[in-house]
Amino acid sequence: FFSMGNNHSMRQSMHGDNQPKLQKTSLANEDPLRIPPLLEPTHETKESVTYDVRTQMGETQIKKGEKTKTLGYNGHLLGPVIKIKKGQDVTIKTENTLNKNTSFHWHGLKTDDNADGSPHQLVAPNSSETISFKADQEASTLWFHPHPEGETASQVYQGLAGLMYVEDENSDNLSLPDIYGKDDIPLIVQDRYFDSNNQIDYEKSYRSDGTQGDTLMINGTINPYLDVTTRWMRYRLVNGSNATNFTFSLDGQVPFYQVASDGGFLNKATEKEELILSPGERAEILVDTTKSLDEDKLNLLVDDKIALKMNLKPDKKSKSIDITQKLNRIPDINKNDTQKLPRQTIDLKGMSHMVNINGEIFDMNKINMTKKLNSKEVWEVNNISNMMGGMIHPFHVHGVQFRVLSRNGEEPPLNESGWKDTILVNPDEQVEILVSFDKKGIFMYHCHILEHEEYGMMGQLEVI
Ligand code: C2O
Ligand code: CU
Ligand code: CU
Repeated sequence: FFSMGNNHSMRQSMHGDNQPKLQKTSLANEDPLRIPPLLEPTHETKESVTYDVRTQMGETQIKKGEKTKTLGYNGHLLGPVIKIKKGQDVTIKTENTLNKNTSFHWHGLKTDDNADGSPHQLVAPNSSETISFKADQEASTLWFHPHPEGETASQVYQGLAGLMYVEDENSDNLSLPDIYGKDDIPLIVQDRYFDSNNQIDYEKSYRSDGTQGDTLMINGTINPYLDVTTRWMRYRLVNGSNATNFTFSLDGQVPFYQVASDGGFLNKATEKEELILSPGERAEILVDTTKSLDEDKLNLLVDDKIALKMNLKPDKKSKSIDITQKLNRIPDINKNDTQKLPRQTIDLKGMSHMVNINGEIFDMNKINMTKKLNSKEVWEVNNISNMMGGMIHPFHVHGVQFRVLSRNGEEPPLNESGWKDTILVNPDEQVEILVSFDKKGIFMYHCHILEHEEYGMMGQLEVI
């Protein structure tokens, strides 16, 4: 019913033929890549930092002609980058100027549930809530998006998504491209349908197995180009789509190096020719532009189509990077220890509106499992297909960063050996993850196909 072998297809399901095909990039309509602004703190000391983050309605010139009605944080579309430092006390005043409830979820953040922004922490229209937490995790690229029950998918689709960078001593000391907007650039990758009036209409684009699109946007830019002046580029890739898996590569199969996964740096860079990210996943990659087959250009491809055109204008003096440097100190996993841990089965089942986890569908008033603070468990995440076939489910847990122990009984690949908060699980696969419950409260775990999550492919665990 479906083919598992070819990971280029954006998703496997019996409806595979209905997949929107990404449009061929037309070279006529290039725009400079939008770079999200860095958010200015309202107050900062070494120990603390304060930010204001506000949802708003806006209008954005995404295509030629009519502007697109969009949603954004502190702007018309998407959001700024919020930088926090490990150890800092962070205070964020969140404000909602939409005419609907929203919530501010910090995806990948390790915090007690009062700052998690789950469906329980709604911010009503024209009101604000202030959260605070201690930045208690290593340098990483996190992101934030709304999470109100029933409205997550539509609000993200209309433009609500932003980035949070955690920095620490290690990231300060590593020799990596780190000049924001120059050689260190986030790429929020999303697919959208635009109607004939250039509007993103969630209701019309909606599909129960996940709302996709035929037009690729990076940071809200269609057909973006970027003038590259340094030899090495660092891209922080974020799959911010509702439901689409993206395969990243470079023109001519030029290799690149993955240096970080969802929750921080890998121990060392791992060379890749191709990288798949499912919705919610992040990766940081380094590109050595001298490897380009073309002297003056190099394209980043998504699903074999041009996604970002790099115009190479190298500054010969730009810094050289030691790609073999040690990036992190993630401990090896001791198999004997993990064998003794309690196990929890997570069965991901179904398609379209018939989805569930362990046979249960989401209920705001139901705690599906209870865990002890500071305990550890092995979760066996199974993607159970049925006669109709199956599809990839990206499995995400709030408030934790976990480790992958195995994928179908085999050691995970190097780029899945670091910290993860979202993991792609193929049909019929079993992925074992090691989860530590270090934060208190009620946390969601769910499929990050946002429409599946809305249909109840989500549960709640309480850490006490
Ligand atoms: Cu990215 Cu529960 O979310
Ligand atoms: Cu999350
Ligand atoms: Cu799913």
